[in-house]
Amino acid sequence: MAFDRDRFIADCEAAVSSGGGQRAIRALLEEAVGDPAAIVGALGEPKRAGIGILHRSRNVTILNLVWGPHMTAMPHNHHMWATIGMYGGREDNIFWRELPPDAKWPIEAAGASSYMQGDVGTLGPNIIHSVTNPLGKLTAALHVYGGDFLKQAREQWDEETLVRRPFDTDIARRAFEDSNRDLDRA
Ligand SMILES: [Fe+2]
Repeated sequence: MAFDRDRFIADCEAAVSSGGGQRAIRALLEEAVGDPAAIVGALGEPKRAGIGILHRSRNVTILNLVWGPHMTAMPHNHHMWATIGMYGGREDNIFWRELPPDAKWPIEAAGASSYMQGDVGTLGPNIIHSVTNPLGKLTAALHVYGGDFLKQAREQWDEETLVRRPFDTDIARRAFEDSNRDLDRA
């Protein structure tokens, strides 16, 4: 069945409220990104970097997240599980772990995953990750979070010093604006 925005939202809500959790969301996302063209048909061809809010409730947040060319998001956490279904481009993720206070740096790289079109990434509730779009074109994914992601207080780690701070939505918004400015110039 071709991707349908309203049905996908309803299926995600039903999956979580019936206790299926992240595993059920993963199955829904795998089905969806198995036909990337159908997602583009339903949501439109990604033209700009940005965060589209498809759905937001206490239990589930669904974002249509488009990364600009070569855009990088600094290390951050979510305090809830996240499942990422790629429908265009590629996301390179570095996973980080916090170190004891006497360590040289607050966090260190602990692993990596590269998600290609059609892949689904599963991130646990305690994950810290940074994300890079290594391509010179837009990368697009459906991000499904197990809670009200936009309300959740969370943290980011400065990309140069790796010092932890409260998540700053202004910095994130500016990163997308800068990316789109570069797109307009290209
Ligand atoms: Fe994230």
